[in-house]
Amino acid sequence: MSVRAVVRGVGHYLPERVVPNSEFEKSLDTTDEWIRTRSGIERRHFAAEGQTTSDLATRAARATLTDAGLEPADLDAVIVATSTADFTFPSAATMVQAELGMTGGFAFDVQAVCAGFVFALANANALIVSGQARRVLVIGAETFSRIMDWTDRSTCVLFGDGAGALILEATKGAGTPEDRGILATDLNSDGRFRDILYVDGGVSTGTTGHLRMEGKEVFRHAIEKLAKTAHTALDKAGLDGADVDWVVPHQANIRIITGTAKKMGVPMDNVVVTVQDHGNTSAASIPLALYVGRQRGQIKEGDLIVTEAIGGGLAWGAVVLRW
Ligand code: UT7
Repeated sequence: MSVRAVVRGVGHYLPERVVPNSEFEKSLDTTDEWIRTRSGIERRHFAAEGQTTSDLATRAARATLTDAGLEPADLDAVIVATSTADFTFPSAATMVQAELGMTGGFAFDVQAVCAGFVFALANANALIVSGQARRVLVIGAETFSRIMDWTDRSTCVLFGDGAGALILEATKGAGTPEDRGILATDLNSDGRFRDILYVDGGVSTGTTGHLRMEGKEVFRHAIEKLAKTAHTALDKAGLDGADVDWVVPHQANIRIITGTAKKMGVPMDNVVVTVQDHGNTSAASIPLALYVGRQRGQIKEGDLIVTEAIGGGLAWGAVVLRW
């Protein structure tokens, strides 16, 4: 027997404003065609003026609690994966905790940029497996529109805002790969690559800063590192590509998604794709895709899922879980 962190609920929130690619044609030397063919993105959501990451996260949290049939007091911990918290501190997670009216338990943020949700899932799993928490709300929430340089066509057309969340609950399993819940995790980072994807602001500059990316360089690392971490996580779980029902990848670029699936030996029919509708929402992209996959009827109880993501740091990783 072993304790597994099993998905008890899933939810999301997307800001109302939808921005199609064509809107960028008015202010930048770009086209809908370039954005579609190079990235797969067709539209993205942008937060309203004054709407913050913790607002988005709180709405996703409430939807997830409803889906799970739970109250805030039923939670032991809240983890928010984000690189765009409202303030330098306190954490977005404690702000969500307060908004939910939770006065017990604990809350903290995880900052691993686009890989943030994978890192947060691994942390939640460790808390549950070690007996430190029974139910953990894990949220990915971002307002990347706040850190865009609107004059840089190579980045500002790629990102969007949103939030998604899961509730994980301690559940007894047999200790086999047939168990529901998180079966394996694999986390990696390599700080030598900090200059290919970063924000040029923060405490050291006294500014919020803007996202800077050498897209081609990040792309060069992505497929190989993602396929490798997915393979490693599957291997740790005693499974391989043929066992996978759904790959739920970080949604940055359709060409990275298809290239990684091909390297993993998983057909695109078994990949949940949302990049066309959300753009790159960084740490929110995987929980948003899990929500959409479940809503579309793609993800069903018992399905084996591999999530994988890479982003600034570089930081990357994968989680294998049975829904
Ligand atoms: O989530 C975190 C991880 N991030 C990623 O995974 C992003 C990884 N990188 C990518 O997705 C791709 O590299 C991009 C979508 C960012 C760019 O695609 P690319 O095929 O690597 O294009 P490129 O950067 O090599 O640019 C090709 C051309 C350039 O023009 P020249 O130098 O060939 O004349 C760019 O200046 O496209 C130009 N370009 C644009 N043209 C129209 C760059 N941005 C745009 C644009 N519209 N928005």
